[in-house]
Amino acid sequence: METSRRGFLLGTAAATASAAMVSACSPTIPNRGVPGFSHAVASGDPHPDSVVLWTRLDPSGRSGTVPVLWQVAEDESFGTVVTQGTTSTGAVRDWTVNVVAGGLSSGRTYWYRFVDDAGNTSPSGRTRTAPSGGVDRLRFGVASCSNFAFGNFHAYGHMAERSDLDAWIHLGDYIYEYANPGAGETYGEYRLNDPVNEIRSLSDYRRRYACYRADADLQELHRLHPVIHVWDDHEFADDPFVGGASNHQPEDGDWDLRVAAALQAYSEWMPTRLDGNRIYRTLRYGDLATIVGVDRQRRFIWPEPDDGDLYLGRAQFDWLDDQLGAATSDWTVLAQQTTFAATAPNRRSGGWGERDRGRVLARQAPSGSDLVVLTGDIHRFHAIDVLDDPESYIPGESAGVGAVEFAAGSISSGGSNGSGFGPQVRWSAGDHRGYLVVDLTPERVQSDFYGFPDPEKLLARRPAERWLGGFTSRRGAPGLQLARRQATG
Ligand SMILES: [Fe+2]
Repeated sequence: METSRRGFLLGTAAATASAAMVSACSPTIPNRGVPGFSHAVASGDPHPDSVVLWTRLDPSGRSGTVPVLWQVAEDESFGTVVTQGTTSTGAVRDWTVNVVAGGLSSGRTYWYRFVDDAGNTSPSGRTRTAPSGGVDRLRFGVASCSNFAFGNFHAYGHMAERSDLDAWIHLGDYIYEYANPGAGETYGEYRLNDPVNEIRSLSDYRRRYACYRADADLQELHRLHPVIHVWDDHEFADDPFVGGASNHQPEDGDWDLRVAAALQAYSEWMPTRLDGNRIYRTLRYGDLATIVGVDRQRRFIWPEPDDGDLYLGRAQFDWLDDQLGAATSDWTVLAQQTTFAATAPNRRSGGWGERDRGRVLARQAPSGSDLVVLTGDIHRFHAIDVLDDPESYIPGESAGVGAVEFAAGSISSGGSNGSGFGPQVRWSAGDHRGYLVVDLTPERVQSDFYGFPDPEKLLARRPAERWLGGFTSRRGAPGLQLARRQATG
């Protein structure tokens, strides 16, 4: 039975590879699902003593509630299992498993796997706990905006192959809710989603996650590196406002039901420590870094009466104030969705607006922890000096600079180079797809940008990636300097 199912999967993959590019939910490389497990494994949200582990059982032939064993070992061969436990799943949560494995040691690499009720073993995953205390170096991959229909996930494949990441951070637009683009549109019908329609119902959102996670590049990245994810709008629908979204029409049904469906599918499929509808959270990496992830959609999707026009709403902004003010690590990494700094020549605009950006910088300044802002959404790489005193700013110097900002281009979503930037935008590239690596030491931060020209995302074979460039900034004297070489060697 198992053998024939495996044969079927492999046969399907071979057929997909030899068929025309157009097919429903067509990953370029075969899904590595194995008997009993349809979507490999994933891990996320590392703490010093625990990490979230994820898998999904193959639903075929299953019903009711099924027990699943999880195991964490020090070695890939599982010779020394350090902890294990049993959980259960079923159709009620789309056959996914999301379990927190505790009792682990800090700053360590572990291997994990699952065993189902029929004795099938999942692929083995690799993960890494957060360190505690003194830390010499940290390295995070950073990604955003991965539209399945717009190109292959080659950039994910490149990141998966790295062996030097503590974790990877996804800044939102992990899935897109759209129907497939029409044949006449850019990249129309290149890789067909499942379902092909715009997703609205719980079943739709579940199938869309299942389609993305059938992509072998994304599977491999999840299997080998823990993820830290914060959502943006497309995990729900484009551009939410209070009571709806730009991409939510009356014929799409009830907005609150759609939000509930999107949230439930998210909670099932992503290896995060989601708390109800709260995704904003802090992850501590010893004395070196504190990662603060925020949610700019919250005040639109779940508004509170006193949110006002604060970028993060009242309660989340108050929470962020507390995180920033209490930061004792060398670096505070703000993982957020769209441009924090002003990019225009007047140096005062920007997605957050001058008032709310100023509030963050003012709160951060006395803590002694330097701020690094990570940005997604704009489908363009950026290295930007965040100015706290635009009048005294001279590019290449520290005067007037309060923080530095690095934007991850996009994995596959289309972008453009943009124009009209002020001198504080030290570098920009919208015509490449890829990711960045942020490398932190007690002395400095460096961001290295990796990618390939946009059209190469359509190649069936993974194109070579290039180091597009890098920037550094010293701790205690922020201001971007062009890097002469990759930090990552
Ligand atoms: Fe996007």
